[in-house]
Amino acid sequence: MEDILDNLYSLSAKSIRPSPIREMLHLVRKPGMISFAGGMPDPDIFPVEQFQQAASIISREGKDILQYGTTEGYPPLKEFLAEWTAPKMGRKLLPEELLITTGSSQVIDLLCWALLDRGDWVICEEPTFLGATGTMYNHGARFLTVPCDSEGMKVELLPDLIERALASGNRIKFIYTIVNFHNPLGCDLSLERRKRLLEIASTYGIMILEDDPYGWVRFEGEEVQSLFSMDEQGLVVFASSFSKILAPGTRVAWCAGNSEIIRKMAVFKQGTDTCTSVVVQAIVWEYCRLGHLDSFLPRIVSHYRDKRDGMEAALLKYMPAERVYWQKPKGGFFYWISAPGIPAEELLKRAVEKKVAFVPGKAFYPTGTGGRDDFRMCFTFASPEMTDLGVKKLSEAISEFE
Ligand SMILES: Cc1ncc(COP(=O)(O)O)c(C=O)c1O
Repeated sequence: MEDILDNLYSLSAKSIRPSPIREMLHLVRKPGMISFAGGMPDPDIFPVEQFQQAASIISREGKDILQYGTTEGYPPLKEFLAEWTAPKMGRKLLPEELLITTGSSQVIDLLCWALLDRGDWVICEEPTFLGATGTMYNHGARFLTVPCDSEGMKVELLPDLIERALASGNRIKFIYTIVNFHNPLGCDLSLERRKRLLEIASTYGIMILEDDPYGWVRFEGEEVQSLFSMDEQGLVVFASSFSKILAPGTRVAWCAGNSEIIRKMAVFKQGTDTCTSVVVQAIVWEYCRLGHLDSFLPRIVSHYRDKRDGMEAALLKYMPAERVYWQKPKGGFFYWISAPGIPAEELLKRAVEKKVAFVPGKAFYPTGTGGRDDFRMCFTFASPEMTDLGVKKLSEAISEFE
């Protein structure tokens, strides 16, 4: 069978890459493991009762919502999102500017279908969310990467990078950026840089994918205007999701963009899943309509703020200050830790023996050339006690390195 399949596989299938994190999650699901690895919400803060109440929409509307739906999304949910996102989007979205998707992972996939030919280039931050670059890679993307500092992507490097790529005949299709509480860095793209990024995209006629699943999970500080709200040319596709503000098991997410690109993405979606589960979209809508999104979200944010504070306290308590560095994130799910001279993959082996897991930084580098001594820790999943114990064990593993 293997021989037959080897003859039949597409070029894409032959070069496809599984997500190292998904693969790793099998390892860390071992009993007793304290996992800071996956970017997972805390199940203790899932609004189970409120969601169950919202599910009563099935008895009211079952005959409609158990039917196939429109590919673009369940209209009442779209209407709700158009209103709810208006402050962030700078205006109320039109229905044709909105597409409901199966996770925001699907937004990335659909945009790749719409824009990429094999060998085209995508610009992204380095490090970045490897789920996104994995999908792009599967579509044949090549990567131009831009380093980051505490204000996010160093956009001042872009013109030179783009000029050089264009001079060698490459086609650059879009810039992928995680603007708020970056995965894995935890930082925000500053307003100045957002404005400059838009100017650059406009100068070179490149689209931007503004990926923002964490922006609603802000613990402190002022919200920075979205790229979408400042975009006058329709170059920005904005993506967000219910995964971090309700529950990832809903697989309900959305994107906003100019009606032309949204239409193209919707046509690709027809062939992918026809539509996102109508029954789940309807329950999510009912949950929102009953006011649970607005009343429960502050509880989620406050819960994760406490967890962030717990990890910060544990890091300060146990980590050797002269060897380990980090910046306290103001929102989102992640700490990015740097331990110069300590290879994170080696550290992980020692840590796993002590039943602690994280993700080594290299996994987030699409070019595979950085992050050797860095790693990502998710602070939302483990309980406060486990966070304290896990960081303690990790610091013991670190102290084993000369
Ligand atoms: C930056 C970023 N974008 C997109 C996603 C995908 O989220 P979803 O569950 O909506 O597919 C994630 C998930 O962790 C993420 O971190």
